[in-house]
Amino acid sequence: MIKVSVVGAKGRMGSHVVDAVNNADDTELALALDAGDDLSQITPENTDVVVEFTVPSVSLDNVLALVAQGVDVVVGTTGWTEEKLDQVRAALAAAPREGQSVFIAPNFAISAVLADYFAKVAAPYFESAEVIELHHPNKVDAPSGTAFHTAQGIAAARKAAGLGPVPDATETDGGSRGQVVDGIHVHAVRLRGLNAHEEALFGNDGEQLTIRADSFDRISFMPGVLLAVRKVATGSYPGVTVGLDNFLDL
Ligand SMILES: NC(=O)c1ccc[n+]([C@@H]2O[C@H](COP(=O)([O-])OP(=O)(O)OC[C@H]3O[C@@H](n4cnc5c(N)ncnc54)[C@H](O)[C@@H]3O)[C@@H](O)[C@H]2O)c1
Repeated sequence: MIKVSVVGAKGRMGSHVVDAVNNADDTELALALDAGDDLSQITPENTDVVVEFTVPSVSLDNVLALVAQGVDVVVGTTGWTEEKLDQVRAALAAAPREGQSVFIAPNFAISAVLADYFAKVAAPYFESAEVIELHHPNKVDAPSGTAFHTAQGIAAARKAAGLGPVPDATETDGGSRGQVVDGIHVHAVRLRGLNAHEEALFGNDGEQLTIRADSFDRISFMPGVLLAVRKVATGSYPGVTVGLDNFLDL
């Protein structure tokens, strides 16, 4: 059994993680902590892997504290920058246990991670490419980090294949053509009733390919969270790993 502690356990994601850990055959819940609780209760004796879903303003400090306490961490909280990742790498270099892991997934939905991957595969074969992301209206950032990443991946794949800019005769644009990420237009829709959705659109003369991922409920993230917990618990991923694609044998 993999002993899992959850930090942010009362949150929308954390409470789903608590249920997922309780319901899986190979994981058991160690500690479920939230704001105000003492993280030093988490030790290598009671916990194999910590799952952290809190808020961007506290996540780095939580991860640094947990690394110093000798436990592996799976992080779902957003807001990571290269600078923050470097701080985690430095903390891991001084960690008490050999080969400790911190795994960070900007998106745990397997459909979204696969769509992102498939978009990179498709990108070299099409003259045109655009990304549309569609979310619930409570989301505070646009475009979504996943859509931004998808556009970057499409752009990199196009560049590697020697493709030039996407065709676009637009001369006047009041903003309707969306944000341009490395030359790829990204559009954000905010609509009551939606959850998290993304389309990568590709076009050639006379044909179109649409790659679409739909996450209808937070429960869609749980298979990805459990996969990350299992992979990290093997001890085979020392250091910082970013992205669920690392665990999908793509
Ligand atoms: N990676 C993914 O696939 C994915 C998916 C959905 C959401 N998220 C991200 O996960 C994070 C959490 O989202 P949510 O919807 O569960 O938010 P939420 O506000 O419902 O939950 C956050 C929880 O963290 C707790 N918390 C705050 N400070 C804390 C601290 N210092 N120590 C311990 N707990 C603390 C809060 O009390 C709350 O219970 C956000 O950054 C969100 O963007 C990531």
